[in-house]
Amino acid sequence: MTVEHRVVFTPSGIVATVPQGSAVLDAARAAGVDIDSVCGGRGLCGRCQVAPSTGQFAKWGLTSTEDALSVPGPTELDYRGRRPLQEGHRLSCQAAVLGDVVIDVPAQSQVHSPVVRKAVDLGEITVDPVVTLHYLEMATAVLGDEISDAERLVSALANDWDIPNVEVPAGALPALSAAMAEGKGAVTAVVHTRRRYPGQSEDGEVVERRVLTVRPGYSDAEFGVAVDVGSTTVAGYLLDLATGEVVATAGRMNPQIRFGEDLMSRVSYAMLNPGGTAELTTAVRTAIDEVIGELCEAAGIYRVDVCDLVVVGNPIMHHLVLGIDPTPLGAAPFTLAVRDGVWADAADIDVDLPGASLYVGPCIAGHVGADAAAAMLAEGPHRSPQPQLLVDVGTNAEIVLGDNQKVWAASSPTGPAFEGAQISCGQRATAGAIEGVRIDPATLEPRFKVIGCDLWSDNPGFEAALGSLEVSGLCGSGIIEVIAEMFLVGIIDHRGVIVGEMAELSPRIIADGRTFSYVLQTQPVPLLVTQNDVRAVQLAKAALRAGIDLLAEHAGIADVADVRLAGAFGAHISPVHAMVLGLVPDGPVEGVKGVGNASGAGAARMLVSGSQRAEVERTAQEVVKIETATEARFQELFVAAMSLPHETAPTPHLEQAVDLPPRSTADSETAGPKRRRTGRQRNQMQEQ
Ligand code: FES
Repeated sequence: MTVEHRVVFTPSGIVATVPQGSAVLDAARAAGVDIDSVCGGRGLCGRCQVAPSTGQFAKWGLTSTEDALSVPGPTELDYRGRRPLQEGHRLSCQAAVLGDVVIDVPAQSQVHSPVVRKAVDLGEITVDPVVTLHYLEMATAVLGDEISDAERLVSALANDWDIPNVEVPAGALPALSAAMAEGKGAVTAVVHTRRRYPGQSEDGEVVERRVLTVRPGYSDAEFGVAVDVGSTTVAGYLLDLATGEVVATAGRMNPQIRFGEDLMSRVSYAMLNPGGTAELTTAVRTAIDEVIGELCEAAGIYRVDVCDLVVVGNPIMHHLVLGIDPTPLGAAPFTLAVRDGVWADAADIDVDLPGASLYVGPCIAGHVGADAAAAMLAEGPHRSPQPQLLVDVGTNAEIVLGDNQKVWAASSPTGPAFEGAQISCGQRATAGAIEGVRIDPATLEPRFKVIGCDLWSDNPGFEAALGSLEVSGLCGSGIIEVIAEMFLVGIIDHRGVIVGEMAELSPRIIADGRTFSYVLQTQPVPLLVTQNDVRAVQLAKAALRAGIDLLAEHAGIADVADVRLAGAFGAHISPVHAMVLGLVPDGPVEGVKGVGNASGAGAARMLVSGSQRAEVERTAQEVVKIETATEARFQELFVAAMSLPHETAPTPHLEQAVDLPPRSTADSETAGPKRRRTGRQRNQMQEQ
């Protein structure tokens, strides 16, 4: 008679009844408990680790003792894999059941394990990558054997791993042949699985399963790269696809900048120069490849260890990465060549990742790209019960507004002012750039904070802390803050005019032709905020605000208490100053926050999870697109948004945080000095 034992798996509480001597891994599989494995139970990968528990368990009516499992044999004792055996853990593929036992399956051994966060916030998602590794030991061919290597592989995957109908494309055959010879029939197959996404006919149905590459012997290196291609920077993240952990990050300037600062100038370059699209494509693909090289070096891995690549970007970057002419995106009707996610191979975009697949995220519309879709996936307005406003501020602001019922999206041509361009003292957010400014309301003297130095300029030891760093200009957040501060202390009025009479109160306000400027610094580089600078920022903010207001009107959403500013700019912006400028609508100040590179976080989500790809594809289709360029109402909203904070919109929440200056009634640009900020404001703002 067969002796049987009960095995209780925690934390699921699933109970299996198995014959004596069964491997714990087999018991788990029979009961539907997912335990990870790459080596197929051969004691190589260490992914199947479990922790047996001892003691009395009244809940299940059993006593679990130390001899309920077989003692570790040579495979476990000699195990030296990449994933070290933790104290008190056993390899479930090697431990045999000899009595009733309670087995804990730690999170890292669960097939769909919760993600480990680092660098980019992946939030609460489950790791279920589309690329998986499978170790196989196959008989080598003998004379008279008519079975090919490909046939052997396909049947081994079906028999050993229950993975039927795998395609072995031509591109994988050379690696298969070499791996079979080198590994003497022992190989690791890298398999890519694409499923239908919810909303399509059969949820989760496998559409395609193919072998990406085959490695000789046993391999468990399973990495992926997520890349966010911005018009200014290319940011890359290397993730371990088994754990969801971010292993390395890297970034560089987008080399396309030499063809034009902003998106439209690059479209013009493609339009006016024969071969221009190819030049732009080569430049961005080279940058992606270099970022991948940097990531691999930082993590100490080889390019062949990378199995999957995800790329997101605005529509023009998206098209250029794919080698598609972007000129149709430069004018109405802004037709996309492809809107859905693109499933391909990394080699298709000339990236040196042999045997890696490629996924280019879906675009929302011809003017709202895969970067916005990725940011949405990361921040989740479509999952939120309350309205959420998500703004990615770049040369083209992408705006998403909505909740779990409906989401609207638009883009607005803010231009490069927020990135430091078109501003006389503007610069990119690099070391030496001023990122924060405060102006004393009594003396009109400024103090500032510089990237690369922890001290404010009025702190003792600031000069020494600066060292060789030169204060060279203002980056986006510095520009926002200096103009908001100038408004709060009365140097500029609500129309954005630098008030000439203020020159009587401070030598920092100087005549500059027919207008006035504010002198932020005289040495080593003179930094002046001119009337033209203020105008450029007003135009950029009015474009952004009008886009937000237009979306709010379409959505019928009057109040938003959850505002998320994405991108490098958003990460450093002061919420109060953004509201003083009227960049975002009035709401609770604490509801406005910078969320960093949300597009990168969204791309990383798509990399480690097939279900996240399903979610982003579905969501991108469901978003309601609003075309700012063709809506007459946009112009009216734009004009009203030129004023600081806004011509007509009330600002009750902002007024609780700061005392706004009274409105000037004078028409001329030489109105008298304005009332200064009060003590309450001063205390609040000086602390920030
Ligand atoms: S399944 Fe790989 S070590 Fe157990």
